[in-house]
Amino acid sequence: MKNLSSKAFQTRAIHAGERKKGAKYTPVATPIWPTAGYVYDSMDDTDAVLGGAEGFVYTRYANPTVSALEEAVASLEGAEAVQAYGSGMAAIHAALLVAGARAGSTVLAALDVYGATFSMLRGLFSTLGVSTRFVDVTDLQATETALKESHPVLLICETLSNPLLKVADVPALAKLAHAYGALMLVDNTFASPYLFTPYQYGVDFVIHSATKYLGGHGDVTAGVVASSLENKKKLYETNKLVGSILGPFEAWQVLRGIKTLPLRMRQHFQNAQKVAEYLAGHARIARVNFPGLPEHPQHQLADQLFEGRGYGGMLSFEIKNADKALVFRFMEALELCLPATTLGDVYSLVLHPATASHRALTPEERARVGIPDGLVRLSAGIEDVDDILADLEQALSKI
Ligand SMILES: Cc1ncc(COP(=O)(O)O)c(C=O)c1O
Repeated sequence: MKNLSSKAFQTRAIHAGERKKGAKYTPVATPIWPTAGYVYDSMDDTDAVLGGAEGFVYTRYANPTVSALEEAVASLEGAEAVQAYGSGMAAIHAALLVAGARAGSTVLAALDVYGATFSMLRGLFSTLGVSTRFVDVTDLQATETALKESHPVLLICETLSNPLLKVADVPALAKLAHAYGALMLVDNTFASPYLFTPYQYGVDFVIHSATKYLGGHGDVTAGVVASSLENKKKLYETNKLVGSILGPFEAWQVLRGIKTLPLRMRQHFQNAQKVAEYLAGHARIARVNFPGLPEHPQHQLADQLFEGRGYGGMLSFEIKNADKALVFRFMEALELCLPATTLGDVYSLVLHPATASHRALTPEERARVGIPDGLVRLSAGIEDVDDILADLEQALSKI
């Protein structure tokens, strides 16, 4: 503002120091832009940006810090564009809408998708007239039959499923979905783009709960959808109306987290592999689900898809003859691994799927999916692995 010095104290308190122009420096790290609106030199410039020219007009539409994060994730996923959201569930919801989940349409989903995705489809979307059929996507024949019979608008699965760590043959599933006129959505949260990039295999919508590995430090809630430019435009226009945006502070946290993603993913994997091998040899453990074990049913597929980058940092295991009470005692006995309802953090975390991530499923539904009460999910952190192993050993010895 010109001639600010002649203005009253109350006015200067509001405008002084703001909107500096013509800086000759560029910040090394993207700043946090906590602004709701943006001003231009002329109303013609504002008009042009509102009409689609490059720029920002209102943070519900777009924000420079959020855009920087979107550019970073698009680069990692090898996608044309990314739209960021306030959570992973908001990202899934938006992708479902844009993919054509409408009254009268059908969605085909993997049997063991994340509990909230399951509930969103079977609850929220079914009240809107969308029906969902669930299928074991590791059975390509059964998936093809379901595609043929149900004519879904969309096939949904997770690269590595939550909590059973099944590996989806994403390239084959994308081909199948498209052959039957369906779009394909992959939740790549467990794998992270370090391990696998579904967009490069023809997947239309790649979503992440950026709350997990992308953020990586357990201190932010965020979601992203990676897609073509055409689908990004649809996601953007929908979000201008719905407004489930990511704030600039949270975008900045995820952007910072991403810088160490490859380093963290290597350590998460190395720790998870050692933990899985240790548990597989333990007398109290009935079964370990981890794609890095040679006995995992999709171990070879994981090798093909992940090309030597490991098998991720997530695993689950069943304690022998355990009911909920015994699992709770085990989780309470842990001193280092935290019993928190999240994953993908630098901290090692454990979760009881039957009462947490898949609580909304009925006991019969959990039995059908294969989630017994004795199942524990473990997100290997990046601590010294010997400390994680010692913690598991002492807790198992107490039950
Ligand atoms: C595989 C998967 N997808 C999506 C979500 C939802 O993400 P958010 O909690 O960020 O909404 C989660 C959350 O745990 C998840 O595990």
